[in-house]
Amino acid sequence: MLPEGTKREEVKDTLTQHIEIVSGVRDLVKPCFGPNGMYKLVLSETGANFLTNDSFTILSRIKLDHPLAQVIAGAGVDAARSAGGGSTTTIILASEILNALLSLLKMGYKPSTLLKGCTLAYSRVRKTSSCLSFVPEDPMSCVGQIVETSLAGTLLSNSRKTFSRVVREAVETTAALKTRDFMRLDDIYVRSQGGGSVEESRVVRGMALMREPIHPSMPTHFKDARLLVVKGEFQLPKQGGRQPYDHKFSVDSPERYGKLLRSKRQLLTSLLGGTFDCGADIIIVEKGVDEVVVDYAVSRGVAIIRRFPPPEFEHVVRLTRATAVSDFRDVSESDLVSVEKADYSKVGDYWWWVLEGFQDPGSCEVLVRGSDQLLFDEVGRLLKSCFLQVRLFLANPRVTYGGGWFEMKVAKDLRGHARTISSREQTVVEKVAEAFESIPMLLAESSGLDKVDCLTALRSRLRDGAGIYGVDGRGRRISDVRKLGVVEPMHVKMQAIQSAFEAAITVLRVDDVIRLRKLSKEEQYYIERVEKTSPEATRKLQREYGI
Ligand SMILES: Nc1ncnc2c1ncn2[C@@H]1O[C@H](COP(=O)(O)OP(=O)(O)O)[C@@H](O)[C@H]1O
Ligand SMILES: [Mg+2]
Repeated sequence: MLPEGTKREEVKDTLTQHIEIVSGVRDLVKPCFGPNGMYKLVLSETGANFLTNDSFTILSRIKLDHPLAQVIAGAGVDAARSAGGGSTTTIILASEILNALLSLLKMGYKPSTLLKGCTLAYSRVRKTSSCLSFVPEDPMSCVGQIVETSLAGTLLSNSRKTFSRVVREAVETTAALKTRDFMRLDDIYVRSQGGGSVEESRVVRGMALMREPIHPSMPTHFKDARLLVVKGEFQLPKQGGRQPYDHKFSVDSPERYGKLLRSKRQLLTSLLGGTFDCGADIIIVEKGVDEVVVDYAVSRGVAIIRRFPPPEFEHVVRLTRATAVSDFRDVSESDLVSVEKADYSKVGDYWWWVLEGFQDPGSCEVLVRGSDQLLFDEVGRLLKSCFLQVRLFLANPRVTYGGGWFEMKVAKDLRGHARTISSREQTVVEKVAEAFESIPMLLAESSGLDKVDCLTALRSRLRDGAGIYGVDGRGRRISDVRKLGVVEPMHVKMQAIQSAFEAAITVLRVDDVIRLRKLSKEEQYYIERVEKTSPEATRKLQREYGI
């Protein structure tokens, strides 16, 4: 039935091989796990190098060859993308579940039994997890702890207190809490500026715009100023280009040149008069501004900030909540927004406009200081995932304890549940419980503790039922994680568990690999020719060349 040269493999061999591939991905990210994780320096051919210990960053940037390696890596990346964390947990858990089931496979268990057992275990974990989480009385009091746990082991580990304060302050600055519109937290912009220490990073209760000096005499300090946001540009259409109103001037005397300049000034000022008459002190212009307009603005004591790439301009509009006027002949006072303070000054080596104190700002910004470009990229990514975690947490404020406590409780419950199952799936559920215990064991191992001793100690503490015990990654011992404040949002945990089970089940479902034979050179050439001359390819070429 299949073409000559095609190979098929046995289910058992296939699964064993696939589990090895998954273990390979786990081994890649395992050293990065937990508060004592190691960093990876990833060098790229394009020069976009980065330093990280976040498996989300690593896996979303490197290319894995095997499709199942991509499935596992994708599960981790998806977990982090949708929950703001938990990527390493996902990969480790998926791989440990599969490895635990591998021993059953070798004993003769059928993949269908493993699949059924896995599904049973997953629904049990979902059921019990709500008993292992709680709703804090004041969610904002937990935000700091969540950020600190999330930053444990990252490049910001030593500055986690500063950044947990920064994140809290940023959340409080936006109106997200008041209006319960938590999506606003996605608009918080993270900017970075070299020089100074990371500890000098701060929340800008408005915006910080890095812009070159536009005119030496332009006013640079304002108190209680009024701001206008203009969409478009303050200049006449340029010569050249494809506009139908292309003009050509030939000037043959200084007088005529002077006349041309005067008429340009007259035209621009008559067009822009309304904009300047409305009482704005600072005008933000999306695109370019003609030198004539700059001179005019200076003469009227108005500052202009220009040239914004589209995402930054959208952010400015959302932050200021101003009406971005595009027809500047029709500007009125109601289009203005007030800002308490605006200063143009040097931060590090660059000039920045810092505008702070908007009434009811839609968002705010975080200005990260530091000495290293590699650090900036990572800080930006880390803060973005912290804001995502906090946004989802505030929308559904449920937390649980980390340090392996949650996983130990889940494992204990799964073992108890397994005893109630009389079929073969009982052993599968027990094996899944074992996989959950690998999380505290890894945390113990990376903290330099003996993993078996730790596991035994944690099991006996659970039996006693006193305290919330887990691995203290910083103190490198077993402690009460509630007292240490190792708190994690429930959505991160549940997303990691869901993604891990889904990935493990996908791998278990693959029962057959069909390897197509390698094509000969002539066959490959033939296929390429056919592809190039296919009707779609021809249509694409026609579109490209406008035929
Ligand atoms: N101070 C700490 N002590 C012990 N465990 C911690 C501490 N901080 C975080 N953890 C644990 O580290 C794990 C998260 O590690 P992390 O490297 O961030 O992985 P992920 O990519 O899955 O978020 C969680 O299980 C969390 O409970
Ligand atoms: Mg994390």
